[in-house]
Amino acid sequence: MKILVTGGAGFIGSNFVHYIYRERPDWHITVIDNLTYAGNKANIEGLDPKRFDFIKADICDADAINKAVKNCDAVIHFAAESHNDNSLHSPWPFVNTNIIGTYQILEAVRNHGKRLHHISTDEVYGDLELDDPAKFTDRTPYNPSSPYSSTKAASDMLVRAWVRSFGVQATISNCSNNYGPYQHVEKFIPRQITEVLEGRKPKLYGNGENVRDWIHTEDHSSGVLAILEKGKIGETYLIGADGEKNNKEVVEMILENMGKDSSDYEHVNDRPGHDMRYAIDSSKLRSELGWSPKYTDFKQGLADTVTWYQENSGWWKPQKQATEDKYKEIGR
Ligand code: NAD
Ligand code: TYD
Repeated sequence: MKILVTGGAGFIGSNFVHYIYRERPDWHITVIDNLTYAGNKANIEGLDPKRFDFIKADICDADAINKAVKNCDAVIHFAAESHNDNSLHSPWPFVNTNIIGTYQILEAVRNHGKRLHHISTDEVYGDLELDDPAKFTDRTPYNPSSPYSSTKAASDMLVRAWVRSFGVQATISNCSNNYGPYQHVEKFIPRQITEVLEGRKPKLYGNGENVRDWIHTEDHSSGVLAILEKGKIGETYLIGADGEKNNKEVVEMILENMGKDSSDYEHVNDRPGHDMRYAIDSSKLRSELGWSPKYTDFKQGLADTVTWYQENSGWWKPQKQATEDKYKEIGR
């Protein structure tokens, strides 16, 4: 099996590459990534060139994508602009990469008759009230809030249309918030850990009551592999590990883990349009494909992640100043 992983130098894509490299030793992996600020070749260093190669290209570049897709059996499409705060500041790269880029991937897999798995997010469903007993399922109507989530929703719609109209062999997964190693320091958990490591306080948007449904990125990878191997073409699977926590609880856990007073954080301006709560019902993936998460102890997963950032300052330090400069500009 030869797989093409788009966005494989980013956080979740690179964790997926390492997971497949370990779990499927007879597969060949090609990563295609144009190394935006969020991509880092160091994430996928040291892999055997007989089993792995890297193409630096933009997924909006039809020629490059066509060539790479022609040479593989299946495409796992992670590449995206992925940060809500950036999308509020500068939406165009989100429209371009997430919509036009996905269109180019779809055209390439259609031309060459290849299997596609499209990676999406639970944010396409909008948000839930804190006391809503419902969780997102694959039947929840789309109701995205931000330029990020609306462009991801648009990409999902394109995939569904290409399946129905052109018979493209595709599946979709919508996963909840990931955490783990190699996550860019702009995102919530690594930002707070690295703020503490740099001697500053974690920064909570608004009152910190917003809830996210956390999943370790390794469990996202195992969910994607299950769908790739056993999923039904045309279906959407939601990936989640029942990890609901509000942001305040997570910050307190990080502070406690790092030996600080759990109230030693500050409130900063809220994000405009800030989604209140995400929660995933992953029973379809569990019952139909037999998947279950391994990282069910969030406290332990978070502790491992803190350790990773403590031990890998050479990885995150080069991104940190520019990231905090961007936050300063937008007042968060
Ligand atoms: P990331 O920002 O860490 O990585 C994105 C990668 O895509 C980077 O390596 C970047 O260089 C590459 N990329 C961006 N634009 C490109 C382009 N035009 N051409 C080629 N490569 C390009 O993102 P992530 O957090 O790893 O997210 C990966 C995927 O998972 C995205 O599709 C995202 O929507 C989805 N997702 C993320 C989360 C989360 O919690 N982070 C949750 C659910 C789903
Ligand atoms: P984020 O990691 O940006 O993911 P998403 O917006 O896709 O859920 O943010 C997770 C939550 O943390 C979200 O409710 C916003 C909040 N947040 C903070 O409170 N402080 C921060 O510094 C950041 C980056 C996010």
